[in-house]
Amino acid sequence: MSHDSAAIGVALGATRTGARLQRAGPFPFFKSYVQRSGNHRRQRAEAFAKAPTPSDLENAKAHFLGKSGRITALMKGLGALPVEDKKTQGAAINLAKQAIEAALNERRQALADAELETQLRAEALDVSLPGRMREPGGLHPVSLTMERIEQIFASMGFDVADGPELESDWYSFTALNNPPNHPARSMQDTFYVDINGDDGIPYNLRPHTSPMQVRYAHAHNKKYAEQVKSGGTLPEIRVICPGRTYRVDSDATHSPMFHQCEGLWLGENVSFKDLKAVFTDFCRTFFESDDLALRFRPSFFPFTEPSAEIDIQFQSGPLAGRWLEVAGSGQVHPAVVRNMGLDPEKYIGFAFGMGPDRLTMLRYGVNDLRLFFDGDIRFLRQFR
Ligand code: DAH
Repeated sequence: MSHDSAAIGVALGATRTGARLQRAGPFPFFKSYVQRSGNHRRQRAEAFAKAPTPSDLENAKAHFLGKSGRITALMKGLGALPVEDKKTQGAAINLAKQAIEAALNERRQALADAELETQLRAEALDVSLPGRMREPGGLHPVSLTMERIEQIFASMGFDVADGPELESDWYSFTALNNPPNHPARSMQDTFYVDINGDDGIPYNLRPHTSPMQVRYAHAHNKKYAEQVKSGGTLPEIRVICPGRTYRVDSDATHSPMFHQCEGLWLGENVSFKDLKAVFTDFCRTFFESDDLALRFRPSFFPFTEPSAEIDIQFQSGPLAGRWLEVAGSGQVHPAVVRNMGLDPEKYIGFAFGMGPDRLTMLRYGVNDLRLFFDGDIRFLRQFR
């Protein structure tokens, strides 16, 4: 047993020090603690080892070194000893104190190490783990079609215009020669919203992009008003208006939200022949095939007269031989030209409305329209 451990024994055992020192004399006191020192040492080690946090450890320290701690009490007791004993006991207490401090520091260090260890483990990075890949995104197939349509018509000198999806009754119907209570309105099962326009009629989610014909004409007239006023001519209107449209409709080939692209070419000398040329050219470029026939099938729309449905026929491929409807069209009705703020005796032209969703289905061979709007990444990723 070393001197050191004996001293620690002194430190730990002497709770009622003063009284005991005086009663038993220094030597027996010292001896008894030397004998019990192994035990005390363990106690001290346990007291520190049991301290789970730094603050617990500081409390345990107070038990030995604090104001009313054991060592402090021993120090106070020294005063009552004979000079000779004072020296040896004092040295022993000092050694005990040093040993306690060493044990304390050891535990402090252990706690700090453990804390660092926990922190490092929490922040650990497995650098061998493969990173989470971010797949590059891509445009939706219908967006690809829209871009394609815009590019082709832009190359033919058409402007591209955007319009509101929440539309007034006048623009959606009345301006297009489709007055209230006219049976032609039932061609479109329209969504209405709980907001009334100035005319007291609820706004609708536009069932087609055709309102943009009149909106664009108004903006065009305004833009060139000065020029016309000072004797200049009004430039031709050549525009396409792609966008979202809405109808109460849902099955494999209809979705309540779908896309349309309106086209309008209006001037002093624009004819049905131009419509045929422009639309045929568009279809051949869009489908990248000259092996394509177009058919203008007589139809009815309130805003055109005469009106035609445009069908295309592929001469080869899986759809070869079938006539497929891709657009409605016609010569703009004089009543509509008037609602555009233009003289129908002077201005004439054609309009068409096509379905980009349908064009996308044909181009990529998709047979269910709903696939476009399900958001299934396995489907969409094929178009990257
Ligand atoms: N707006 C029509 C529809 O949704 C399509 C249409 C037909 C647009 C003839 C036109 C047109 O511009 O001239 O069914």
